[in-house]
Amino acid sequence: MPGDHPLPAPALASGPRRPDGPAALRPLLGTVLDALEAGARVRGGPLPAGGPEAVAAHVADVLGDALPERGDPDALRTLVQVLAEGAADPADPLCAAHLHCPPLAVATAADLAASVLNPSLDSWDQAPAASVLEAAVTRALAHAAGLADALVTTGGTESNQLALLLAREAHGAGVRLVCGTNAHHSLARAAWLLGLPDPVVVPAPSGVLDPAALDAALTTLPGPLLVAATAGTTDAGLIDPLPEIAGLCAAHGTRLHIDAAYGGGLLFSDRHRDRLAGLEAAHTVTLDLHKLGWQPVAAGLLALARPAELAALRQRADYLNADDDIEAGLPDLLGRSLRTTRRPDILKIAVTLKTVGRAGLGALVDQVCAHARAFAALVDAHPGFELYDRPVISTVLFRPAAAGDDAVAAVRRRLLHEGRAVLGRARLDGRLWLKATFLNPRTRPDDLTRLLELTQARLANPAEAGRTEPAEEGTPA
Ligand SMILES: Cc1ncc(COP(=O)(O)O)c(C=O)c1O
Repeated sequence: MPGDHPLPAPALASGPRRPDGPAALRPLLGTVLDALEAGARVRGGPLPAGGPEAVAAHVADVLGDALPERGDPDALRTLVQVLAEGAADPADPLCAAHLHCPPLAVATAADLAASVLNPSLDSWDQAPAASVLEAAVTRALAHAAGLADALVTTGGTESNQLALLLAREAHGAGVRLVCGTNAHHSLARAAWLLGLPDPVVVPAPSGVLDPAALDAALTTLPGPLLVAATAGTTDAGLIDPLPEIAGLCAAHGTRLHIDAAYGGGLLFSDRHRDRLAGLEAAHTVTLDLHKLGWQPVAAGLLALARPAELAALRQRADYLNADDDIEAGLPDLLGRSLRTTRRPDILKIAVTLKTVGRAGLGALVDQVCAHARAFAALVDAHPGFELYDRPVISTVLFRPAAAGDDAVAAVRRRLLHEGRAVLGRARLDGRLWLKATFLNPRTRPDDLTRLLELTQARLANPAEAGRTEPAEEGTPA
């Protein structure tokens, strides 16, 4: 239209000519880091205060028109800051509800390179080096678990779904999932999604799959069956008796999947690796390095004992893997995922493994497990609290002694509303428990004391719910 100014073309993240590439990106990174720091300062704790309504109002206010006619060059700063102000920051020691880890700085920096170069792992001509890196690193991780190869996924849910898909393709659409009441919900959902028979759910009376009940199920149920065990339950961080389960599967000729989305990280630790004995007997294993692996989301893997089963995922699409291209030597990548366009999530994982090393990651695992043991000891020694059990990985379940379930639920929500602490919840043995999942290696003993004291204070005197204490020193951005 006459009189309209031409719109400036936004710079690209990479490219051979200025203003694209590092010249454009470097100052923007400065803006992002400043906004992250400013947002964390405003938040002043693990979670924004005020609950969902306050957060929604603030975000709506800052966002304004989400699709404005004309752009705003300050949007990067304002939106990153509002995100940080309203973040549940897993790097805050009092943010301990979920399997939601604080990512390592080096992994996050590597993830930036993945975004800049934007390789897509559906064809070699979009990801020449990334595809080589992925093949080598997935194999190394699979070998660490005692399996042959691994696929990269978006996390535990996709890995479990792929495991069921491979079982269906190997044994037919009548394959029935047999899992414990302690199994992750994504397994039953995958069975539903894949059109498999309704799963058989076996009791897990002490939080882990009962081998006698599993044996009875495998003896009486018609096949084909797929047993799914868990190494690191979501609620309590417990590990099913893997060697016994593997033995039963071998005896009954049953396929075994192990969901080690949480516990798989123990493979890095000399001290804790033995707890995963039996993993190597599985046909498929879910691993997830955005849990006990300090990766930004997404960083899932599905390890496989029989890579030949990947033939089930084979696809031909002329624009990605034409027969003549494959015959001429271009690698075929399409059969390594159900996705087409796919981020090189392997880069941050590769950089982490090379930078920190297995022993370095193992030390992080040992630290968070030690935090859980220390917190459990505090709970156990406190007359006002009851401990569910000694932690196996890094999850501690506890509850105020003599409190009802309603009081347990209320104290959690009160802490969330104040933005003072993020605790999870889990129902076990018919009672509601508070859940602290330790994934932050930087947590200090006084953080653990504070978490328990805060919980007790909010139970004892919910009226004193104001956020009056000063912001924590060194709240990470
Ligand atoms: C044991 C287990 N399996 C699978 C999942 C799903 O993982 P994701 O959330 O990465 O899809 C979880 C999530 O917490 C889990 O605890």
